[in-house]
Amino acid sequence: MIGNILIFLVVIGLTVLFGWLTYRAVRAKKLWVKIVGGLAAGLLTLIFTAVAFFGGKGVSAMYFPGAPPAPELAVAGTPEQIARGEYLVTIACMGCHSQVGADGAPSRQHPLSGGWNLSEYDGFGFIGDMVTENLTPGGKLSGYSDGDLFRVLRYSVNQEGHTVGVMSFMPYRELSNEDTEAIIAYLRSLPPTPTTGPTGDRMNFLGVTMLGAGMFGEPPPPAPAVVTAPPPGVTAEYGKYVATFGECRGCHGPTMTGSPATSVSPAVPNPRPFVSSLTLEQFTAMMHSGVKPDGQPFPATMPWENASNMNDDDLAALYTYLTTQP
Ligand code: HEC
Ligand code: HEC
Repeated sequence: MIGNILIFLVVIGLTVLFGWLTYRAVRAKKLWVKIVGGLAAGLLTLIFTAVAFFGGKGVSAMYFPGAPPAPELAVAGTPEQIARGEYLVTIACMGCHSQVGADGAPSRQHPLSGGWNLSEYDGFGFIGDMVTENLTPGGKLSGYSDGDLFRVLRYSVNQEGHTVGVMSFMPYRELSNEDTEAIIAYLRSLPPTPTTGPTGDRMNFLGVTMLGAGMFGEPPPPAPAVVTAPPPGVTAEYGKYVATFGECRGCHGPTMTGSPATSVSPAVPNPRPFVSSLTLEQFTAMMHSGVKPDGQPFPATMPWENASNMNDDDLAALYTYLTTQP
């Protein structure tokens, strides 16, 4: 954080310096100094102004997001809450926070000890390391209150109040208060496993500037303090909620009609026409096996395992949502 803020201040200094040099060049007596010096210094001023502008936006979004304080919260941890939390975590969080396998990717196996360097693995390590956190009580979260954890999931800020970069692009701000508390209850019930390496964000100034320029996608709208889920059932409305905790909307766009490419991710297609061409049985079988009815498996970029852990009612609701006009 301090490093990025210092670099930001240096960039502001350089902007002022080149602005002043441009002024001096334009006022110079020699014509060639006016033209060559003015153009060169002017161009550098423009470049540094843009970097200062977007860098400033990024620094503010990253370190001063202005999220509400952690709520006063004591999650009871009833068996029902823990069971619901396990269901949600197995669908949603496992794909990133589980034990790292031999191939360097999350294995979807316990323990939820994190340590996956997502930015390096996905080829955008040039913006700095982004490593998944240990979600068991054996790591950083042992120092978190239930309110602190709630704040991470609802507002994507850590205990220090800084934005957690990858988490802020996930759709968890739309999880109901009840489900958020169920997740907390389940994480608290896990056996503690120690953290083995560095975790969390170490985004560099380039990453912060790209964030400020919106190059990772539009930042999500502010989250409300209270979120209620629609009543469970095989309805399009509940299916949309399933597509939220199933993370589908995080990639396929808020209305599941596809999303454009960003600097760190390719474009994601609209799955609705294809799903509408399938029966519910075909859809369910495809989401359980990762293989489409024509025998084509989903590529690794499509985490079908999330849906494969869903119960049949949730899959049916998801199907209803995807086959209903948005
Ligand atoms: C796409 C991968 C991904 C998924 C899915 C994901 N996380 Fe994360 N999570 C990360 C990364 C990466 C970090 C490190 C900080 C950052 O970049 O956001 C993190 C950090 C965290 C932190 C620590 C924040 C802090 O205070 O430092 C918590 C808590 C957390 N995640 C909980 C969850 C829970 C609960 C779920 C499921 C509901 C989940 N995550 C799903 C990638 C993911
Ligand atoms: C990490 C991003 C990501 C998430 C999360 C995700 N998808 Fe996808 N999905 C993709 C990509 C990328 C493709 C295109 C794969 C390809 O090249 O065929 C895809 C393809 C699909 C297709 C096939 C579309 C077609 O026309 O062939 C369906 C159906 C689908 N996704 C449904 C879902 C559902 C349902 C969920 C939630 C359980 C989900 N996806 C979650 C990235 C994602």
